[in-house]
Amino acid sequence: MAKAPKSQFICQNCGAVSARWQGRCEACGEWNTIVEENVSGGIGGGPGRGFGKGRVVELQALSGESGEAPRIASGIAELDRVTGGGFVRGSALLVGGDPGIGKSTLLLQASAALARLGKRVVYISGEEAIAQVRLRATRMGVANAPVALAAETSVEDILATLEAGPPPALVILDSIQTLWTATVDSAPGTVTQVRAAAQAMIRYAKQSGATVILVGHVTKDGQIAGPRVVEHMVDAVLYFEGEGGHHFRILRAVKNRFGATDEIGVFEMTGSGLREVPNPSELFLGERNAASPGAAVFAGMEGTRPVLVEIQALVAPSPLGTPRRAVVGWDGGRLAMVLAVLESHCGVKLGNNDIYLAVAGGLKIVEPAADLAVAAALVSSLAGIALPPDCVYFGEVSLSGAVRPVVHAVQRLKEAQKLGFGRAMLPAASMDREAGFGSGMTGLDQLAGLVAAIAA
Ligand code: TYD
Ligand code: MG
Repeated sequence: MAKAPKSQFICQNCGAVSARWQGRCEACGEWNTIVEENVSGGIGGGPGRGFGKGRVVELQALSGESGEAPRIASGIAELDRVTGGGFVRGSALLVGGDPGIGKSTLLLQASAALARLGKRVVYISGEEAIAQVRLRATRMGVANAPVALAAETSVEDILATLEAGPPPALVILDSIQTLWTATVDSAPGTVTQVRAAAQAMIRYAKQSGATVILVGHVTKDGQIAGPRVVEHMVDAVLYFEGEGGHHFRILRAVKNRFGATDEIGVFEMTGSGLREVPNPSELFLGERNAASPGAAVFAGMEGTRPVLVEIQALVAPSPLGTPRRAVVGWDGGRLAMVLAVLESHCGVKLGNNDIYLAVAGGLKIVEPAADLAVAAALVSSLAGIALPPDCVYFGEVSLSGAVRPVVHAVQRLKEAQKLGFGRAMLPAASMDREAGFGSGMTGLDQLAGLVAAIAA
């Protein structure tokens, strides 16, 4: 007797399975993302598979085994920085991002760079025809690179194509949402298909030793599965981000089994592809308006690299009973904390004001060290007095009003000095004779005094 097809209700955003259809996914909170899928067959569900003995090896026995370099550097420094020094052989990466952000452009450039180094690179496009990919490559000036192109969407065909040619070092699948495998019955783009296709390609990576890059579109409606459903299966997850109106694009690792996750790669989208930005501070400070109140330059760290960025605050009397608080690029909870500390320890009255805070250039800051720069921007906007144009700020503010030390003070100060800043406000405990400049603070109340002194 044939088995009745088994179906499940799966959220297309996060992959959570629920027993029945619901309007809202209980796991991720998204609306209208639950779709009924046929899950018979599926991963590992092949017919009559026997059991075989596995092989166990000693860890120390592996030490001398790796003859080949385990990583291949792409030659694009900003990309290699995020991957932790190049693509690891036999690993699978996911590159996610909004449609149109530049994922295909980035990966085509990386393919061309690697192919020119003599590595075999196969770029499989499920979205564009080969002629379109070539057109784009011509525009980017990489059309003469020996990249192997294919336009396929069937996983079985892709694997057969890859087996037929010489073994590739890098395989790019653009995008995972267009792939489908005959082992499952669901439509392409559903969670079951995306997972099964990703699983097959990851298995190929492990067996062949090639690096496989899966491209995944972040989706807003629930019709196609988002990249989150394969995040747990791959070795590294990179997200390509950018603000609508800006040319900057930031590549960020959110998971990396072979490197740090706090590094970012900064690119600029130009008419002929992506350009690397080796010194992001210059870019983020490029459109700075130092003479206006409410702007403070934060000397931050992104991984191992210091990045200077302007923090902008606008404090305006509120016509509403409950004033508005809006934050772009920083944590709203931390803003509330800094506001509370300013009110209760420094006598700065902000309660009846609308407060808007933005990090310039579309950068997202997660460091607590930005507290002091945020406080300075807020006080400056409230007082209507511009901060000194040659001063940078960093330091963590505690609930007691103390300014606490942060790491890498010397690197931050050196970057500031390099870009022409002559003053810094920083935690007294982070002061260092080596850097040679800066005023140490122990409490946030000193900030209000400083602004008053500028006004006088
Ligand atoms: P694309 O790489 O196709 O995005 P994704 O693969 O993430 O969907 O990038 C598309 C956008 O990039 C498109 O809006 C135009 C822009 N672009 C440039 O500005 N310059 C270029 O050289 C290229 C190739 C694209
Ligand atoms: Mg694309």
